[in-house]
Amino acid sequence: MTKKLYILNGPNLNLLGTREPEVYGRATLAEIETQTREHVKNHGLDLVFRQSNSEGQLVDWIQEARAQAACLVINAGAYTHTSVAILDALKTLEIPIIELHLSNPAARESFRTHSYVALAATGVIAGFGGHGYILAVDAAAGLIG
Ligand code: DQA
Repeated sequence: MTKKLYILNGPNLNLLGTREPEVYGRATLAEIETQTREHVKNHGLDLVFRQSNSEGQLVDWIQEARAQAACLVINAGAYTHTSVAILDALKTLEIPIIELHLSNPAARESFRTHSYVALAATGVIAGFGGHGYILAVDAAAGLIG
């Protein structure tokens, strides 16, 4: 069976393209998804790519990934800095987890320097804009082996 890569996107990432473009770039999430789907083909993986503004929905998808995914990439948006529920869900996974951000939160406001996701992540990709999704696919493929 083809291995599945889950890429989950959190709150406000549906607004990419128009939301603070000086921070997050001008590409929409749909454009990033298209580029990511193209790139995933190089690695022969199946891609599950989703976005939700709801913390509970993200927890449900992380639980789904537990049974389905070979690797999970998550840009949890602002929940990165607030959500113990997402951390607890991530800690139930036995697969590699990649924390992803378009911006570099460590170089921004101090409240963004703490990440709950990082406590469960295998590694972090941040600050490369939409290209970070391509880097995350390559990193995931390497971790899946
Ligand atoms: C973000 C960084 C978070 O601090 C912020 O709340 C986001 C986007 C990023 O991709 O740079 O919504 O996760």
